Amino acid sequence: MSLLNPSLRACALVLPFALVTPAFAQQDRPAVTAASPDGSIVLTVATDNDSRPTWSLSRKGKLLIAPSKLGFILTDGLNMVRGFSIAGSDKASGQERWEQPWGERRFVNDSHNELLVRFQQSDVQGGRRMNVRFRLFDDGVGFRYELPEQPGLKTMRIADETTEFDIAPAGTAWWIPGGEWNRYEQVYQKTAIDAVSTAHTPITMRLDDGTHLSFHEAALVDYAGYWLKRSDGRKFRTTLAPSSQAARVIRDLPFNTPWRTIRIADDAAGLVDNDLELNLNEPNKLGDVRWFRPAKYIGIWWGMIRGDWSWAEGPNHGATTARTKRYIDFAAKHGFRGVLVEGWDKGWNGDWFGHGDDFSYTQSTPDFDLPGLAAYARDKGVHLIGHHETGGNIANYEAQLDAAMRLYGGLGVDVVKTGYVADAGGIIAPGEAPGETRMEWHDGQRMAQHHLRVVETAAKYHVAVNAHEPIKDTGLRRTYPNWVGREGARGMEYNAWGAFANGPDHEPTLVYTRMLSGPMDFTPGVLSLEGADHAPLASTLAKQLGLYLALYSPIQMAADFIETLETFPKELDFISKVPADWSESRLIAGEVGDYAIFARKDRNSEDWYVGGVNDATARTVTLGFDYLEPGKRYTATIYRDGEGATYLTDARHEIAYETRTVRKGDRYDLWLAPGGGAAMRLVPAK
Ligand code: NOJ
Ligand code: CA
Repeated sequence: MSLLNPSLRACALVLPFALVTPAFAQQDRPAVTAASPDGSIVLTVATDNDSRPTWSLSRKGKLLIAPSKLGFILTDGLNMVRGFSIAGSDKASGQERWEQPWGERRFVNDSHNELLVRFQQSDVQGGRRMNVRFRLFDDGVGFRYELPEQPGLKTMRIADETTEFDIAPAGTAWWIPGGEWNRYEQVYQKTAIDAVSTAHTPITMRLDDGTHLSFHEAALVDYAGYWLKRSDGRKFRTTLAPSSQAARVIRDLPFNTPWRTIRIADDAAGLVDNDLELNLNEPNKLGDVRWFRPAKYIGIWWGMIRGDWSWAEGPNHGATTARTKRYIDFAAKHGFRGVLVEGWDKGWNGDWFGHGDDFSYTQSTPDFDLPGLAAYARDKGVHLIGHHETGGNIANYEAQLDAAMRLYGGLGVDVVKTGYVADAGGIIAPGEAPGETRMEWHDGQRMAQHHLRVVETAAKYHVAVNAHEPIKDTGLRRTYPNWVGREGARGMEYNAWGAFANGPDHEPTLVYTRMLSGPMDFTPGVLSLEGADHAPLASTLAKQLGLYLALYSPIQMAADFIETLETFPKELDFISKVPADWSESRLIAGEVGDYAIFARKDRNSEDWYVGGVNDATARTVTLGFDYLEPGKRYTATIYRDGEGATYLTDARHEIAYETRTVRKGDRYDLWLAPGGGAAMRLVPAK
């Protein structure tokens, strides 16, 4: 099957929709309705008494989203909020099974019904036209505004988008605050839905009747990211990330906004095993991307994060030629494809944090031989992973971007980690006049443009991108499959800076929140279980292995010092074998914020891997093996929490190893320690 032509079967049936249906909204105004393929989700689109466009959803006959308004506030004209009527609508449906070049699963199914509603404002309101396209899947809904070309509206200057989500039932939410100084790097809060303030997306909710929801967006291109702001009760609306301009988004017509998405499921697994945002993104624009290889990597990194080494030149400089050679040798010996080196370039000696104008992306420090090391690595089948920290200064970075990517591409450095360390709102972007700069937000329109510029430039030179302090992931890896990873949440690094810094709940919460947006460069594999000054991690040893199954990334780090990794031969063996690319993935046990156990099948063999992470509560989970091939025996190598293990004491190092034979239909009782986890490798027996 060709990766150049990932679409296996596509058909889009466009049916003219006979004007407006006889169904009427509550105010006796005409409404249009549509249902998901199995009929469980029903959408109603109407206008209210104030002629404001509204949408609502029911699921299995129960109201889920009460009538909620749609519209825009503009900086330079009448708002697009009132005076609307429905001018017409069209229905369509789509069925497709498409192939991912890499990912949690090889094939993705897309089955949806579509409703396009054409709204028209009255002459008094400018007579403007605004279309809204809804796609209804059985496990979620997406909709976007489509602003067609029209006389009298050439450019939209959007002060804010006022898309409402009025959540009918009560429930619980897991969320991080939007617009706060540490960007997305927050510990998740768990509150009642009506106690949320302004949240980043994805935000996850469990309604009192057990329905699970996740609000997010898809295909965030040339637009500001939105934060979900609670206005009243359980009523939320979008508010766009700010800009240095009065308008948060400026776009010439015609254009489409990103899709506003809601995953909807009966249980936690239904939220996780869900491809809504990927399905709403455009297909691969890069063609054959087999030059990107999902793989694991080590790096000259943890030493800087802990403070043992420095990024800047000096006696403790981390990125030296001699150390990098040792890392390359270790990678070659233990099967790691990548070696990340940070602090290799000039510019770290000044005030790089939130400043970054000294960074060079082409000149290495005198004690780091970039071409020599790239060649040394290549000879051993290893690839350096490059690093572009910007300190948030994209004016400086964009000026060097092409040269920087050309340099890496030419040396076989085929993945680059980028970084935007600066407080929220601290991005330094080029202004209009030469030398002039403007301050932007990490998730504003300017950064949406910037990240794609980096990804497209990198693709030209066959380089893949892993962005830290990024804009949130909205499924653009489908369109640009060289956008392979991102941070965009509190990663392992926080554990270097304080005891139990991320807390035992963090990873079992990430699975159901941040991870719904896409792969994360969390950087697992700190087997010492300690940060600086012996600060303990809220993790057992087995949990460090479970992270490779719980938090998907096609580039997975083993974050610890190589000298430490070497002292854990059994764990190192697991890490060196666990794949970073899967043909199938499913959550086989878990609840939001409590625990998560996945079964994943290697994309390149018949092996299965099972494992995941637990919160602070010890529990026994009975695992089935229903996904295994019938009649086949598998040898399971199991790494689980040892007797008495707990993240709270030195017993966090207690681990138990077990080998047994398993078959489809077997059951296995897995005990998970407080802050624990587990990992298993299942290999078909000969
Ligand atoms: C923050 C990133 O998350 C971390 O991985 C990196 O080492 C530092 N910035 C420096 O770029
Ligand atoms: Ca970070």
